[in-house]
Amino acid sequence: MKVTVVGAGNVGASCADSISYRGIASEVVLLDIREGFAEGKAMDIMQCATNTGFNTRVSGVTNDYSKTANSDVVVITSGIPRKPGMTREELIGINAGIVKSVADNVLAHSPNAIIVVVSNPMDTMTYLTLKATGLPKNRIIGMGGALDSSRFRYYLSQALDKPSNDVSAMVIGGHGDTTMIPLTRLASYNGIPVSEFLSEEELAKVAAATMVGGATLTGLLGTSAWYAPGASVAYLVDSILNDQKKMIACSVFVEGEYGQNDICIGVPCIIGKNGVEQIVDIALNDAEKAAFAKSADAVRNMNADLKSVLA
Ligand code: NAI
Ligand code: 2OP
Repeated sequence: MKVTVVGAGNVGASCADSISYRGIASEVVLLDIREGFAEGKAMDIMQCATNTGFNTRVSGVTNDYSKTANSDVVVITSGIPRKPGMTREELIGINAGIVKSVADNVLAHSPNAIIVVVSNPMDTMTYLTLKATGLPKNRIIGMGGALDSSRFRYYLSQALDKPSNDVSAMVIGGHGDTTMIPLTRLASYNGIPVSEFLSEEELAKVAAATMVGGATLTGLLGTSAWYAPGASVAYLVDSILNDQKKMIACSVFVEGEYGQNDICIGVPCIIGKNGVEQIVDIALNDAEKAAFAKSADAVRNMNADLKSVLA
């Protein structure tokens, strides 16, 4: 099982580290345009092997796509990260050009790969990758909902003062501060609705904290986060490579599901060896439906900025 991670920056390297540490793939290739950078990150990760006991071979290359040949999964993290005060939307122009050329390059050497898109604005970059490559929709997966859901579970666990792993919760919609939808109504503490333990006001605070979870970290760190994003990608890649069929909120191309068409947006998906194997189209209540429609409109508006890139 071979995984290529394009972009050996904060998220890409953390993702390679998480994949190797957990033994998810036998080989990981990190690729970056910065001379020697991916090589350095790969060497640093490989020097953990004797202490942590993993057997994954991690290597780094500068722009040499031939070394990525026959990858089963390619993760695209290349691009610039959001800076404090910068919206994900502002990243679109720069990152669209990078993501499109990277997708073309990886597919020339790994025509059967499943592509996981991480670069922001992620829903738009996922849509761009789908349209630019013409690949079937099951092979293009945007990672955002896995991260937002883990942040939601974190904030719920803090409010409950209970372990995150006892909390089950999902975020759907766009991967943006105003477009994501924490599904509070369906969140549970070991199967018991969280509304049994937390007031409406407390739950509203948790949802609000989740929605600005990425921006909070950007404010604290001076750049966007990487440990949880890297671990979230690894979680998704694990479900693909090991055919786990986990249900994960992912940005995928919708054709009628949740009442939407012709966008990539976060919805619950069954993820296995074929990539997106099913979209789980659950019944939302009226407020959730309205929030999803608004989120979809925002994502669609942002996609309009891709016209020149896709022309
Ligand atoms: P970073 O700046 O640390 O790493 C980006 C890397 O991409 C750099 O090393 C750069 O040299 C490389 N790069 C740029 N153009 C390239 C090209 N054409 N080919 C190969 N490599 C290239 O940034 P970081 O923090 O790793 O973030 C990466 C992207 O992921 C950003 O767009 C960020 O907004 C996004 N992100 C998305 C998340 C999500 O949940 N979807 C979560 C966190 C970050
Ligand atoms: C995050 O949510 C910025 O998308 C990035 O951390």
